[in-house]
Amino acid sequence: MPSSIAPHGGTLINRLVTGSERDRLLAKAGDLPQIRINNWAISDLDLIGVGAFSPLTGFLNEEDYLSVVERMRLADGTVWSIPVTLAVEEAVAEELAVGKQAALVGEEDGVVYGLIDVTSIYKADQQLEARKVFKTDDTEHPGVQKLLTKPSTYVGGPVQVLNRPKPAKFEDFYYDPAETRRIFDEKNWRTIVGFQTRNPVHRAHEYIQKSAMEIVDALFLNPLVGETKSDDISADVRMKSYLVLLENYYPSDRAFLGVFPAAMRYAGPREAIFHALVRKNYGCTHFIVGRDHAGVGDYYGTYEAQEIFSNFTPEEIGITPLFFEHSFYCTKCGNMASSKTCPHDKADHLHLSGTKVRALLRDGQCPPQEFTRPEVAKVLIDGMSEPVGTSAQ
Ligand code: ADX
Repeated sequence: MPSSIAPHGGTLINRLVTGSERDRLLAKAGDLPQIRINNWAISDLDLIGVGAFSPLTGFLNEEDYLSVVERMRLADGTVWSIPVTLAVEEAVAEELAVGKQAALVGEEDGVVYGLIDVTSIYKADQQLEARKVFKTDDTEHPGVQKLLTKPSTYVGGPVQVLNRPKPAKFEDFYYDPAETRRIFDEKNWRTIVGFQTRNPVHRAHEYIQKSAMEIVDALFLNPLVGETKSDDISADVRMKSYLVLLENYYPSDRAFLGVFPAAMRYAGPREAIFHALVRKNYGCTHFIVGRDHAGVGDYYGTYEAQEIFSNFTPEEIGITPLFFEHSFYCTKCGNMASSKTCPHDKADHLHLSGTKVRALLRDGQCPPQEFTRPEVAKVLIDGMSEPVGTSAQ
């Protein structure tokens, strides 16, 4: 009997349309009003379509949006912390009508990615959304910045996916939730810990992953490869770094790499909830939340992304969060540790800021191996000569 954990809301959503029905809808799309969608919206659409965002069947309608913004729940009470919305220009909204369909068309490639059954057209209070979701309306915050560049008219309703974005690279590492669930079952893994990252895996990441691996059957290394801010290391380089790391330091029968093709929101605590629920949909039973999960700058407290879980019952979340303290290499202990396990002074701990690490790598120097595995450092140094990208493509 498969051990799969129930998807969020109880059902793995599938909004992919295939075969003759797809042909019919594609033909119909030509007669519908068009909403041009960017890569972020295409990725949201696709993740809704494959059930990664279960129980969402489409972009949030006004009732769900207001409820998510205000109380981190859909209108029916299901926990949901991040508004997944479709923003359209006023002129586009005027062509739409509640109860009618519209075609969702890639703004760059003209591909009809799907249809939306419009159930709601509404004006969002984006300042309020920013303060609630990101806990700030500071336009320096990358998530707030993104939000405020979007039009404030949102369109909600269920979607149907007719075409899927094609990864240009690392295609073998794209798995839909139905596939990861099947694979975990085939491998007979009953407990799987999901790990979100937008960075190369440094020793602290490795330490918390392996600490978790001691108590579960397997690790699902699930790096986010959708849109990130431009100074984050490109998904392409990161993927190479994960591969060398897994090859050299992880048991191949207990660690599994698959990408999470979503955009990074940088919403800290709220995004930690979202990340956990989505990993549940992929079939994980546990999820790692370390220091300042999905944070940026100083906007969130070090453990706020852990504390937020206490707003909900374990049953409401469904996946078990595993919380880890700030981890580091301690020269006195001679190993990786955290303040929970190390009695020594801060001065004995190896701390390198992201800026410092980037400076070292740019100079072609490996950070200490207590910070980064040399194989990973080499990939990152080589990657420094490549242009920074915003996606895996
Ligand atoms: S994130 O934006 O995707 O959260 P990152 O890739 O740096 O950023 O972190 C991945 C996960 O590792 C998050 O759960 C984060 O909290 C955790 N983490 C990162 N660095 C440390 C550290 N030094 N100690 C403990 N946890 C950490």
